[in-house]
Order: sequence, then C-alpha cells, then structure tokens
Amino acid sequence: MADTVGEANIHWQALDVNQAARAAIKQQTPRCIWFTGLSGSGKTTIANLLEKQLHAQGLHTYILDGDNVRHGLNRDLGFAEADRQENIRRVAEVAKLMLDAGLVVLVSFISPFRADRSIARSLFKDGEFVEVFVDTSLEQCERRDPKGLYAKARRGELKNFTGIDSPYEPPQQPDVHLQTGTTDAAELAGRLAYLVMNAPNPKDA
Ligand code: ADX
Repeated sequence: MADTVGEANIHWQALDVNQAARAAIKQQTPRCIWFTGLSGSGKTTIANLLEKQLHAQGLHTYILDGDNVRHGLNRDLGFAEADRQENIRRVAEVAKLMLDAGLVVLVSFISPFRADRSIARSLFKDGEFVEVFVDTSLEQCERRDPKGLYAKARRGELKNFTGIDSPYEPPQQPDVHLQTGTTDAAELAGRLAYLVMNAPNPKDA
C-alpha cells in the first residue's frame, strides 16, 4: 500500500504564470458565482442562461453542476450529511483551481449547509465568491418536480431528500437573492450578468 504523505511534507509550488497573468490574457476578472437552492429551484436553468450571456460577451466560463459532477469526480458520494460535505469541499476546491486558471466559474449545487458554503467562501479572496440564493419555495419545487424525485421521496423510495427528510439551510446574507416566484429566469440571469460584468475587482485577502 502507498504511504500516506503528510501535509507537512508537501510544499506549495509558486508558478511563474500566475492567476493574474492567466486572467489578463482573457481580459477578465475570475469569479466564482455560487448558486444554492433546493432541487428544482432553477439553479441550473439560471446558471445556463447566465453562462450564455457571459460567453456572448467574450468571457471564459465554466459550469460545475451537481448532477454532472456526481457522474464523475464525485460518483463515490451519496446524500448523507458527510457525503454532501465532501461533495461541496471537492467542488469548491475545483472551482478554486478554475479561478486560478483565470475562469469565471458558475457552481450549481444544492449546497444545503451554511457551514459548508462558508468553508467554500473562505477559499476565495474577498469579492471573488458571489453567493446566489435561488429562492424557490419547497411547494413550488415539488409542484415542478422536473425529475420526479420529490414524488419518490414522498413515497419513501428516496431517503435523505433535501426539503423532505434532509434539511436546507437558506443563506442569511446571500450576495444575491433571486426570488423566482415573481421574475422569470431570463430576467434574473440578465441581472446577474450585469452584476458579474460590473462588480468591483476582488481584493487580496
Ligand atoms: S448537494 O446537496 O450535495 O449539494 P447536489 O447539488 O450535488 O447536492 O446534487 C443534487 C441533485 O442530485 C438533485 O438536483 C437531484 O437531481 C439529485 N438527488 C438525488 N438524490 C438526492 C437527494 N437525496 N437529495 C437531494 N438531491 C438528490
């Protein structure tokens, strides 16, 4: 079996082409736009529309989506609390690498726990991490039920389903609060695009 390498023996490598150089060549400010909300709240729909608008403006972007990342990097994780924590820890680290590469990254994960979102935020410089709360009521998500998962959870065929038998902790002070009940997804994405394009530059921590 391979030895476990202690963190004490691993040293950070400073590289000559750094984040600033990678961002400068793309003429953009790297950011992590972090969408949180219930399953079926519209996170991915809005993130997708936002990415189209940013891409059309010439920005270099990437979407990390919970359902997709769980097919690959995080395929070993389920939905118990510890697995969700690890899910968020890994995707936050991936997003951090992508920002180091100079990208604008859109993360679309339920990310139900405040503590995990707070750990994710702590990886980034002030202003780099933008928490977007996609605020759709449980009733509305359950009415939409695009994947039929709420119905399954109600029938007891799916355990630990967020909003049913696993908690969702809404952000208390999100950077952006989107109320999907009153405004359509395209309009919300447009507001976000404006924010991303005009936000002040992040400060070094
Ligand atoms: S998170 O809670 O760990 O952040 P993530 O965003 O990766 O969740 O995955 C959520 C997606 O997985 C949902 O949109 C849904 O399609 C699917 N899913 C399957 N089982 C569950 C479950 N028990 N709770 C929530 N989502 C589930």
